[in-house]
Amino acid sequence: MAANKKILITGGAGFIGSHVVRLFVTKYPDYQIYNLDALTYAGNLENLKDIEEQDNYHFVKGDITDEAAMTELFQEIKPDSVLHLAAESHVDRSIKDPMAFIRTNVMGTVNLLNAAKELWKEDMDNHLFYHISTDEVYGSLDDGGYFLETTSYDPKSPYSASKASSDHFVRAYRNTYGLPVVISNCSNNYGPNHFPEKLIPLCINNIKHNKPLPIYGKGENVRDWLYVEDHARAIDTIFHQGKVGETYNIGGFNEWKNIDIVRLLCQVMDKKLDRAEGTSEKLITFVTDRAGHDLRYAIDAHKLMNELGWEPSLQFEEGIEKTVDWYLTNEDWLDNVTSGNYQKYYTGQYG
Ligand code: NAD
Ligand code: DAU
Repeated sequence: MAANKKILITGGAGFIGSHVVRLFVTKYPDYQIYNLDALTYAGNLENLKDIEEQDNYHFVKGDITDEAAMTELFQEIKPDSVLHLAAESHVDRSIKDPMAFIRTNVMGTVNLLNAAKELWKEDMDNHLFYHISTDEVYGSLDDGGYFLETTSYDPKSPYSASKASSDHFVRAYRNTYGLPVVISNCSNNYGPNHFPEKLIPLCINNIKHNKPLPIYGKGENVRDWLYVEDHARAIDTIFHQGKVGETYNIGGFNEWKNIDIVRLLCQVMDKKLDRAEGTSEKLITFVTDRAGHDLRYAIDAHKLMNELGWEPSLQFEEGIEKTVDWYLTNEDWLDNVTSGNYQKYYTGQYG
């Protein structure tokens, strides 16, 4: 699979995309990596400062919702493969503005599928359209069971419905036009460069500034957390060894209740900031629940582990320590992304 190596990575300036771009640029110096990103509020070229001068790295500013621009770009660059990560990714924003999610996640994905189909129509064999998706397409679990690749789709938020729709389009293009595709569905990621609208970086930032830690509902909801570099390695494995037409679930068998994660962050940060034990926990504040809040996600990643040999590398406590260290060391990054529009978003969301 993926014999040729001119790769278009969409959303490469975002959280996960930047780790994927870095891995591919440094591990495969013979590949040409094109990072296509619209640089929305979530895209940040600071994330890639360390590799931006590499000869095999190229940045292209572009919007995947622009159909004509995507057709032109594919004809110009002629990518052999696509790693598609560009998306609107935050559930709370999708509740406020679903259309933005339909435009980017659904229509943007279909624009890319069309551009790839047109470019590769004479020879589909040596190409790959790899669509990066989420475990949220499977819906919400109660206390038992796991999401398998065969679990029926049951998305419950505008975000997950838009990702589910994009997954369906990717499979439809395989079935109808023979486009060589692969899909992976991953659980919650955490780690460096995570935008501080999401639970873990938001709490790190608020603990640092002694601000309330907003916990939706009772904090009983469960998420299954994976260190972002482990996700990037899984994407590398699936890109090179996965079977065309297949779906792979990615996850670390690492379930945590939200309240327990926030308590862990408080403990770790009290130590790092030389605060008395228990200081930061006092910031925990229970707030109105997220509308339609999914109770539990849990991924069964055995297919990926057994068939392709991938394994997560980090224990959660170790990953959280590394993550907190990164945010405390990269204060400028955090200050830059939390200025300006972030303040408006924060006030709108939390009052
Ligand atoms: P992110 O929000 O941090 O980054 C998204 C990137 O896409 C940004 O760089 C943004 O500028 C870019 N982008 C947005 N709209 C665009 C458009 N119209 N045209 C071009 N670029 C655009 O997201 P993330 O958390 O890194 O997620 C990346 C992908 O992985 C998404 O598809 C998401 O659904 C999926 N995913 C995320 C997680 C997670 O826990 N974060 C888990 C599983 C799957
Ligand atoms: O499961 C994969 C998904 O994980 C990805 O597809 C999404 O792109 C990503 O954003 C993430 O979605 P979640 O909604 O699970 O992540 P978030 O960090 O927004 O929330 C994690 C949990 O914490 C969730 O149960 C809601 C809760 N939460 C979140 C925020 C922002 C709070 O209690 N308070 C908060 O302020």
